[in-house]
Amino acid sequence: MKALVWHGKSDIRCDNVPDPKIEDPTDVIIKITSTCICGSDLHLYNLYLPAMKPGDIMGHESMGEVVEVGGQVRNFKKGDRIVVPFDIACGDCWFCKRELYSCCDTTNRNAKEAALLMGHAPAGLYGFSHINGGYSGGQAEYLRVIKPDVNAIKIPDELPDDKVVFLSDIFPTGYMAAENAGIEPGDTVAVWGCGPVGQFCIRSAWMFGAGRVIAIDRVPERLRMAEAGKAETINFDTETVYDKLQEMTKGRGPDRCIDAVGCEAHHTGAIDAVLDKAKTLVGLGTDRAHALREAIMCCRKAGTVSIPGVYVGFPDKIPFGAAMNKGLTFKMGQTHTQKYTRPLLEKIQKGEIDPSFVITHKLKLEDGPGAYKIFRDKQDGCIKVVLKP
Ligand SMILES: NC(=O)c1ccc[n+]([C@@H]2O[C@H](COP(=O)([O-])OP(=O)(O)OC[C@H]3O[C@@H](n4cnc5c(N)ncnc54)[C@H](O)[C@@H]3O)[C@@H](O)[C@H]2O)c1
Ligand SMILES: [Zn+2]
Ligand SMILES: [Zn+2]
Repeated sequence: MKALVWHGKSDIRCDNVPDPKIEDPTDVIIKITSTCICGSDLHLYNLYLPAMKPGDIMGHESMGEVVEVGGQVRNFKKGDRIVVPFDIACGDCWFCKRELYSCCDTTNRNAKEAALLMGHAPAGLYGFSHINGGYSGGQAEYLRVIKPDVNAIKIPDELPDDKVVFLSDIFPTGYMAAENAGIEPGDTVAVWGCGPVGQFCIRSAWMFGAGRVIAIDRVPERLRMAEAGKAETINFDTETVYDKLQEMTKGRGPDRCIDAVGCEAHHTGAIDAVLDKAKTLVGLGTDRAHALREAIMCCRKAGTVSIPGVYVGFPDKIPFGAAMNKGLTFKMGQTHTQKYTRPLLEKIQKGEIDPSFVITHKLKLEDGPGAYKIFRDKQDGCIKVVLKP
C-alpha cells in the first residue's frame, strides 16, 4: 500500500510499504477514506519530538471502511464506516475504567522508556513516535485498528466523512479543552492559537456557556475563521497581547485561558521567545513555550489555564510564581477522545455544529509531502488538510 513515511526532519515521503495485517483477534483492518494532518504531526516533522525512526508511518486522525475483521471483534463487520480515535485504549485498566483513555496503562509498547522521561507511560498513540508505543499511523491506504470495540465509533451512512472525521481528534480536543477550562456562564475565555484545535476550542467554549471568547493568532485567515466563530480577535504581531486582554477585561484578565499553541509558539521580539528559539536551535531546549507563559501572566486571579497544546520536554522560564500566587488552576492532557466521540457525534447529527468548516485543503495521499509543507508554513491559506487515499 501507499503511506506517508517519516524519513527525518522535514522529510516525509509517500512510499510503498507492506499492507497491515490482523495481529490480534480483536483487530480490524480499515481502508482509509479520510485522514488528516494535525499540528501534532508538525512536532514530528519539525523534530520537536525526536522519537521517530525512519520508516515510521505518520497519521492519527483517520476513518475508513472495515475490510477485515478479527475473530473476537463484536461490534463491527465488513463494510462498516468507522472513525478511529488517535489514542489507543485497552478498555480494562484502572485508567480506561475511569474514561481516562489517553492515560491507558497497557497500550504503550515502550512504557519503560516513556516512564523514564515522564514518570509514568501515557497510552499508545497512532503514528506518534516510539515514546507513544511506535504504532503505525493512518496516513496510508490501510490501517490496523486496535480493539475497535473499545475505541472506534460507527458512522451512519448519511453522514459524509468531512463532517465526522475530526471526531478522531480535534473536535474532542477542543471540546475537552473547553471542559477543562471550567467555564462558568458568562465567563471570558481567551484562546491562544487559531489553528484547527483553537477553532474547536472557540466553538466549544460557547457550548459551555462562555459570555465572550477572545482568540489570539497572527495568521489573517485563521483570525477570520475565529471571527466567523463569533470570537473577538487579537493579532499578536500588531498588538501586545497582555495589554490588549487587560484593556478588554477592564484589568481583571480573562477568566479562562486556553493554550492551543503548544511547544512551537512564535513571537517576534519577546525576549523569552528569542531565548527559546536559540536554545531549541542548538539542542539546549525542548519547547518554545511563549504562549503558555503569556496565558499564565494574562489569566485573572483564581482563573484556569487549560492546555490542549502539546509540550514534549522541559519548557523553562514558566512563571510558576505568578501561577501559584494568583491561585491558578491548571488542566491539560492528550484528549480522552473515546469519552467524547458519541456525545459529539450526536451534536453533529442534531446540526449543532458542522466540523467541516475548518477544511481548507482536500488532497490525495500522494500530495501529502507537499501538504505537510504548506500546512506548516501556512501557505495557500492552509488551515486543515484532509487526505483522501
Ligand atoms: N491535547 C491533545 O490531545 C491534542 C490533540 C491535537 C492537537 N494538539 C496540539 O494542539 C496544538 C495546536 O494544534 P493545531 O492543529 O491547531 O496546530 P497549528 O500549528 O495549525 O496551530 C497553532 C497556531 O498557533 C499560532 N501561534 C503560534 N504562536 C502563537 C502565539 N505566541 N500566540 C498565539 N498563537 C500562536 C500559529 O500561528 C497557529 O495558527 C499543537 O500543539 C498540537 O500538538 C493536542
Ligand atoms: Zn491530531
Ligand atoms: Zn487501558
